[in-house]
Amino acid sequence: MIGFSRTSEELACDGVSLSAIAAAAGTPVYVYSAATLRQRYRDLDAAFGDYPHAIHYAFKANSTRALVTELKQLGSAVDAVSMWEVEVALAVGFAPAQIVFDGVGKSDAELESAVALGLKAINVESAGELARVEAIAARRGPGSGVARVAIRVNPDIDAKSHPHISTGLKINKFGIPADDVHALLPSFGDRKAIRLVALHVHVGSQITSMEPIRDAARRLADLARAAQQAGVRLEYVDAGGGLGISYDGGPVPSFAEYASAFIDAIRPMKLPIVVEPGRSIIGPAGALVARVLDLKPRTAGSEFAVINAGMTELMRPALYNAFHLIEPVTARAGGLKQYELVGPVCESGDVVGRDRMLTPLEVGDLVAIRDAGAYGAVMASNYNRRPLPAEVLVDNGSWRVIRRRQTLDDLLALES
Ligand code: LLP
Repeated sequence: MIGFSRTSEELACDGVSLSAIAAAAGTPVYVYSAATLRQRYRDLDAAFGDYPHAIHYAFKANSTRALVTELKQLGSAVDAVSMWEVEVALAVGFAPAQIVFDGVGKSDAELESAVALGLKAINVESAGELARVEAIAARRGPGSGVARVAIRVNPDIDAKSHPHISTGLKINKFGIPADDVHALLPSFGDRKAIRLVALHVHVGSQITSMEPIRDAARRLADLARAAQQAGVRLEYVDAGGGLGISYDGGPVPSFAEYASAFIDAIRPMKLPIVVEPGRSIIGPAGALVARVLDLKPRTAGSEFAVINAGMTELMRPALYNAFHLIEPVTARAGGLKQYELVGPVCESGDVVGRDRMLTPLEVGDLVAIRDAGAYGAVMASNYNRRPLPAEVLVDNGSWRVIRRRQTLDDLLALES
């Protein structure tokens, strides 16, 4: 049984006891299933079949070294959103030609490194950034090769996701409006220092219906056609990331539906498809395991369960009101009880799970916060001087710490 499942009364990860991991590694602890990670990568890859494609895993979702090393072995390439992510990718052995570099605010220093490295593409987000890349590349002189750029298009599509993670509307800060991209296309024939290798869209994250995906595919196809008609020899299109996962058991598009939408739209242009999935690969592969610190009455019929993980370890519930399934690692006998699961941080918004019906909890019990593999550990903070949690990878019946828990000494070492 791969992933998080119950063996008799206990929740396990790839068959390994979460209680045993928590007892040895401490809590709060992120636990990842290598088998789930591999399966999701392979399923997405298979969904594209023999259509030319490349998966550029989005490091922003989770770039812990052991996880991205695993993805590298599976054949993944990289989507990086900062030069620090690019450097992590290089450190684990990815080649520059496997890295696309996006991000709405890239410094000159980042762009200079990106150009010098010869990344697969710098995904530019504005006309100004395009001009900066061109100037940097031109300064390097004709012998240094051209800088490869992709244009991130803002297609003005509503991803119908949470407003904080919808990115494809005109009012969002991302990309260049489609009309402006049309106007720019003919200019690429004359540019010596840069080459437009791709067009890129990413309309949002946690997309749970096909409509915005199909719209994005259509817009991407329209622009790719226009680019080809303008004489631009695109090498591929970049469809971004964004496919949602089922946090609450509700329906989400399958990898097959997702891949078909882009293949159907792009096939006439005969261009390979790049995708930048983050959450859909790593999200379900991780859980955050925490311990109950305290129980106290809340309202009639409901108790607070204070756990030792909160907005500092998993920010999504506080930031987006996001739902994560929470379950006791060992189910106690007795009827379901209503709990408000809260973190230890000094904020009323530090609620991890509202009004959850769970088997009875006692102080010291473990709970697992599911689907925390993406945008969990990477968004953790040191608020309240809380150290970043440990991360554990379960692989083939055994487990190991892939990032040790931060210590106070680690934190104080930065300070004078
Ligand atoms: N490509 C680009 C250009 C992106 O901006 C993103 C995510 C991705 C790919 C990967 O998207 P995914 O497949 O993971 O949806 N912190 C938020 C999510 C922010 C997503 C930012 N961009 C959350 O916890 O829901």
